Amino acid sequence: MALTKLDQLYRAVILDHSKNPRHRGVLDQATTQIELNNPTCGDVIQIQLLVEDGIVKDARFEGSGCTIAMSSASMMTEAIIGKTEAEALKLAADFSQVVQGKAVENEEALGDAMMLSGVSKFPARIKCATLSWKALEIALQDKDNQGTAGQLKHDE
Ligand code: FES
Repeated sequence: MALTKLDQLYRAVILDHSKNPRHRGVLDQATTQIELNNPTCGDVIQIQLLVEDGIVKDARFEGSGCTIAMSSASMMTEAIIGKTEAEALKLAADFSQVVQGKAVENEEALGDAMMLSGVSKFPARIKCATLSWKALEIALQDKDNQGTAGQLKHDE
């Protein structure tokens, strides 16, 4: 099956984030962090955030996962740094909609993460795409979290 030019562009951006991840590593001054695993494959991601005055000042991720999971985490950090906690949570909610094939009002705010919208055609990969974003939600909703390990639920 031939790829359309748009599919080729999407694929190139996803591969670029996978090969050259943004904000991968450890954040020394993290105020909250969480580890979350994908029960369908056992892959794990760690998210660290520096949240001050209600703003996500910095973010890092580490872990092991497929190309989609790692590129999604990279895209997520780009999208959320500099945003308020509420804005970051809204982005996570919007991303969850996008990968289920649903429309959202402000696609531009998701940045490169919109390139993962095609995952909606592959339901088995949706958890790969949302792993880091679910970790983000948990980290922001429980900001005293200092590294608790969790597991993505089967219905997420
Ligand atoms: Fe494990 Fe994608 S196969 S996160």
